Amino acid sequence: MTVSASNSTLSYHKVGKGKPIVFLHGFCEDRHIWEELSEYLQTEFKVITIDLPGFGKSTDVISQSIDEMADHVHALLEKLNVGKYFLIGHSMGGYVSLAMAAKQSHSILGLGLLHSHPFADSAEKKTNRNKAIEFIERNGHIHYVKQLIPNLFGPAFIRSNSYIISKLILRASRISSTSITNALVAMRDRPSYAEVLERIDCPVLMVIGELDNIVPPELSKKQLTLPQVGYAEILPEVGHMALFEVPRQTRQIVRNFLKYCLELK
Ligand code: MLT
Repeated sequence: MTVSASNSTLSYHKVGKGKPIVFLHGFCEDRHIWEELSEYLQTEFKVITIDLPGFGKSTDVISQSIDEMADHVHALLEKLNVGKYFLIGHSMGGYVSLAMAAKQSHSILGLGLLHSHPFADSAEKKTNRNKAIEFIERNGHIHYVKQLIPNLFGPAFIRSNSYIISKLILRASRISSTSITNALVAMRDRPSYAEVLERIDCPVLMVIGELDNIVPPELSKKQLTLPQVGYAEILPEVGHMALFEVPRQTRQIVRNFLKYCLELK
């Protein structure tokens, strides 16, 4: 079964039957990044992929904080009567997932953080966000995403997957510069969610790429001891995009995690 609806604040796609899994994409992405994974899981789960405010087809929804993005996603899930769900976020989608966990941890059956982490931006990272905002103001967002997207991948992937990279650049260039700037501000000003990760009592999956330039492994590994029930996968030769760089392995990691959570119940 496939249902797409545009009568809600955010654009989303819902497919399959079973326990719901909500997938949240990262910065300058949209819900299409989950397509292959969603196809793989839809025979066993109800898969809901959402375009975060300002991204994909949710372009008319404005959010200036990670918390506001989380509230929009929560409102959509309420409207869809989703009940309890697995929540999996890629990078910025992980920040939004943690903001949701801060308020709705009772609804979350399992939390997945792909190339993400719970810590606030360092002073250096905040400065880099400000530089990115100035760059976009001066040069436009298309030049920005042309530099950003290839940097998400490990070097071996870049060499042999120019088609995928061009496709992601094209999609990212359709996002408005205002939405990109809003998201940079939202990420810059987000609080630490380390306590949320310590408190949450559902299992937490953490996927880390050893070659990640965006969320460096030195930083993301600091979260490994925080969850009460944590499950980590550290992937050598992978950058920030395991979904594309090692798709088969990522599908298995996510499915194993979901099955593990269900067995614990
Ligand atoms: C993302 O990929 O969602 C962001 O780049 C993460 C970040 O910049 O912190």
